[in-house]
Amino acid sequence: MTERVHPDIEKVLISEDEIRAKITELAAAITGDYGDDGVLLVGVLKGAFVFMADLARSLSIPIDFDFMAVSSYGTATKSSGVVRILKDLDYEVTGRHVLLVEDIVDSGLTISYLLRYLKARRPASLEICSLLWKQGQQAVPFEVKYAGFVIPSVFVVGYGLDFAERYRNLPYIGVLRPEAYGGESPR
Ligand code: IMP
Repeated sequence: MTERVHPDIEKVLISEDEIRAKITELAAAITGDYGDDGVLLVGVLKGAFVFMADLARSLSIPIDFDFMAVSSYGTATKSSGVVRILKDLDYEVTGRHVLLVEDIVDSGLTISYLLRYLKARRPASLEICSLLWKQGQQAVPFEVKYAGFVIPSVFVVGYGLDFAERYRNLPYIGVLRPEAYGGESPR
């Protein structure tokens, strides 16, 4: 498919077609693992909403949806080290199979906080599905069972990911031109 690339994007790192193919692969693995038991998808807002919508529509097993909103980054894009819960789960997760859906695992601060938080509520199982994984950037390594793409440590936008709340609606994952963030790279 020909994509009209946004003028602020220096390079498309992962195309729309590549994302679609990867989601089909991830969905097949998730469908095979959970089967008729189904799974509760817990999306981490805001970034995961685009990925979760496409992933969910590729799954043919019973699923429920819930969302959490946390803040670990403001518009400043540097990890503050502090994860604050802005929106908690609507449902009880005790005894349920839970799959945390993330857009990107970078320092891993956000996801490791959420893992601890959710584990304390004793789910039947708890796994991570992240579209992007900056592998090796995590202070404490942990398993991302369903990982889409391992990417280098560059700041990316699109497909739910933002810079200062912009670019979330781009259908691909791209690297911003330095002019778009005013010189120094956010990561
Ligand atoms: P972590 O806590 O450092 O793993 O970061 C997780 C959150 O930081 C993600 O859910 C994103 O919202 C944001 N983030 C990390 N890297 C990027 C990036 O390259 N582009 C946009 N947002 C990012």
